[in-house]
Amino acid sequence: MKEKIVVTGGTGYIGSHTAVELMNEGYEVILIDNLYNSEAVVADRIGQITGKTPQLEVFDLCRKKKVSSFFRENNDVAAIIHFAAYKAVGESVNKPLAYYRNNLVSLINLLGAMKKHGIPAMVFSSSCTVYGQPEKLPVTEDAPIQPAVSPYGNTKQIGEEIIRDTIAAHQGLKGISLRYFNPIGAHPSALIGELPRGVPENLVPFITQTAYGLRDELKVFGNDYNTPDGSCIRDYLHVVDLAKAHVTAVKRLLEGKNKNDYEIFNLGTGKGVSVLEAISSFERATGRKLQYTIAGRRAGDIEKIWADPSLANRELGWKTASSLDEAMKTAWEWEQYIRKKTEEQ
Ligand code: UD1
Repeated sequence: MKEKIVVTGGTGYIGSHTAVELMNEGYEVILIDNLYNSEAVVADRIGQITGKTPQLEVFDLCRKKKVSSFFRENNDVAAIIHFAAYKAVGESVNKPLAYYRNNLVSLINLLGAMKKHGIPAMVFSSSCTVYGQPEKLPVTEDAPIQPAVSPYGNTKQIGEEIIRDTIAAHQGLKGISLRYFNPIGAHPSALIGELPRGVPENLVPFITQTAYGLRDELKVFGNDYNTPDGSCIRDYLHVVDLAKAHVTAVKRLLEGKNKNDYEIFNLGTGKGVSVLEAISSFERATGRKLQYTIAGRRAGDIEKIWADPSLANRELGWKTASSLDEAMKTAWEWEQYIRKKTEEQ
């Protein structure tokens, strides 16, 4: 058995996929989650995929004493991968204090516990949202950080700064922030995937729910952007590829291959895809027609962004392997699995 890795938000979408990839590589994984936006059964499904159900600790990372006592008892943890956070952009505009408190207090508590109990490494779940609308595309890690358009985005910017400053002040701590572009898709087993609460804000869950009949139609938010087909452009990457990047980042820190104590990497495919192209991909991959209409622009949307992932390609030895169509196919398989499960209950 390799080192012990803590995955916060471990029953969530990206956390669960990362737990699978870590376990496939022989790491011992402990999930921490308060189950605010996920279910304990996800740990069992990870067990179905990997052959071993990971330990799940259910508590809130905003509880400082609990976080400290957990890491006192588990001071052999080699690294923390920190996913646990609120992530709904629209909700964050209406509940800024809840977002700042939850996302930042949990991070501060974790870093405090790392310092106190000698946990040396953190990989942080950040976002390309920190770039706003970049002037140059594809966007590299040294592109200027823009004022955040939402409290959610601001928690990612401030989170990165808190980690950078804490690492600079305390010898022995190191970390990597991973700036994700748009993670989509699900594990090929269809046993884990993205399960938004209520009406999805993100494109692909909205597409799969519409195809399943839970929503009447997808609204394409704007076709008058300055892009080839007028719809917005994003860089959609398969969540399993994204999960694997976390394993390589953890390895880099554990093996001391990092070039600085704090590093930042973009994680994307390097290819921009429009909303209309994403719809075509879904239709091609699943053989289903999608009901959609063109609607007005969504407030705060970025016109176009895609990654320059060459730093991650070079330094982490990581690049995306799955196509957009494969990601769409797995998203659809997961949607069908989870609906059947829900209907059975
Ligand atoms: C959003 C957040 C980003 C966050 C990410 C989490 C903003 C500006 N950015 O990214 O910070 O990290 O979610 O996954 O909010 N679309 C439709 N119809 C829909 C839903 C989406 O046309 O019903 C379009 C959007 O206009 C956008 C694209 O699909 O062009 C992707 O949208 P979404 O999945 O919400 O991701 P982002 O906006 O890129």
